[in-house]
Amino acid sequence: MSNLKPQASGLRPDDKTRTAVIGGTGMDQWPGLQIESTVQADTPYGAPSAPLIYGRVDGHPALFLARHGPGHRIAPHCINYRANLWALHAAGVREVVAISAVGAIAPWFEPGRIALPIDLIDYTWGRAHSFSDGSAHAGLQHVELTHPYTPDLRGRLLGATRGSGVDLAGEGVMAVTQGPRLETPAEIARLRRDGCDMVGMTGMPEAALAAELGLAYACIAVSVNWGAGIGSTGIHDEISASIEAGMTKVRATLLRLLAAPHD
Ligand code: HPA
Repeated sequence: MSNLKPQASGLRPDDKTRTAVIGGTGMDQWPGLQIESTVQADTPYGAPSAPLIYGRVDGHPALFLARHGPGHRIAPHCINYRANLWALHAAGVREVVAISAVGAIAPWFEPGRIALPIDLIDYTWGRAHSFSDGSAHAGLQHVELTHPYTPDLRGRLLGATRGSGVDLAGEGVMAVTQGPRLETPAEIARLRRDGCDMVGMTGMPEAALAAELGLAYACIAVSVNWGAGIGSTGIHDEISASIEAGMTKVRATLLRLLAAPHD
């Protein structure tokens, strides 16, 4: 359980907005979200990456945050993950769906497909990765990450892919690297030996911070390229060719998730 208590700071509390979506590479905006208001939030950790965008998707309330900021300017290691998660929690959402473009390591995860990671390995370093930093805002907690992706939310996302006819590639383990550079082939080979199926740069500390705040958290991983040394075409060409197909599946899944009845 979280013992952290963010205070709303200029945020619009809206009990009906249960679900927040953090969009990453390929989803700096959410086509289909009818914007109702934007809120420039402030937190004890500074400003989040972008204004919080409140709106509706097919009539269902949702809140959107662009992880890399407007115009995709903030590198993965420079993102203020603490401000992002704090602002969402203070806004009153109960669950966060993270959208992450990833490189594929497992052969089943062809670019253009989506997967729901079930576990992760954190290879990042030097990021402000916890609210337990001795500040007045937070006590010390050793948060449990046995389920870095909340099973109930994952299960509902799984149902949403089925209900929307999206062909889910699988589940799997996410490696989170420091970036912003891509990996070497030897690094990808090591990640495969470690048991990783995909690699991205933003999954941590996001998942751990959500857990510290008691937020449900799950990720839709979008394969946009093969990991270095696996594919036969250039990584950036693979990304250009596949990213929109993946994001179309993400949007269909989110629509179904929001439309589904829940507790
Ligand atoms: N590696 C790390 N992060 C990524 C990649 C990758 O190949 N593709 C998209 N995000």
